[in-house]
Amino acid sequence: MNWQNLAYALDQVAHNLGAVTVVAGPLYFLIAGELKRERGVLWITLTGWVVQIATGSFLGLISLYFYGQLPDIHGIAIGALLIKIVCAITAFVLIVASLRVHDLYTGRRTAITWQVLAALAIIAISAAAFLRWFS
Ligand code: HEM
Repeated sequence: MNWQNLAYALDQVAHNLGAVTVVAGPLYFLIAGELKRERGVLWITLTGWVVQIATGSFLGLISLYFYGQLPDIHGIAIGALLIKIVCAITAFVLIVASLRVHDLYTGRRTAITWQVLAALAIIAISAAAFLRWFS
C-alpha cells in the first residue's frame, strides 16, 4: 500500500465533494428559489467552503510530510491557487455575514448574494484546472 497516494486520494475525494457542494448550493437556490430553505442551503454551502479550505491546505501538508517541502509551483499555478484562496475567503465571509442577519435578505439582495456565491464557486473550480495543468 502506498500511503502517500492513499492520503492524496482520500483528501482529493473530500476536496472534490466540497467543490460539488459550493457549486451546487448557489445554483440550487437560484433555480429553485425556495426562500424558506435559504438558511439551510447557506449552511451546506458554508460547510463546502470550509471543507475546501481544510482539504486544499491538507493537500499541501501531505506533500510537506512525504517530501519535506510544499508543492513546487510557480507562475500561472500560483495565480490559480491565489484565486481559489481569495474566492474561498470571500465566500466564507459573505455566508457568515448572511447567516448573522436575523431575517435573511429578501428580494434583490438575496439574488445578488447567491449570484456572487455561484460566481465565486465557478471561478474557483475553473482556477483548479489551471492549478492542475500548470503545476
Ligand atoms: C483555500 C482553498 C483551496 C486550496 C488551498 C486548494 C488547493 C488545491 C490543491 C493543492 C490541489 C491539487 C492540485 C494538483 O493536483 O496539482 C487542488 C485540486 C483541486 N481543487 Fe482545490 N484548493 C482550494 C479551493 C478549491 C475550491 C474552492 C474548489 C472548487 C470550487 C477547488 C477545486 C479543486 C479541484 C476540482 C481540484 C482537482 C483538479 C484536478 O486534479 O484536475 N479547490 N486544490
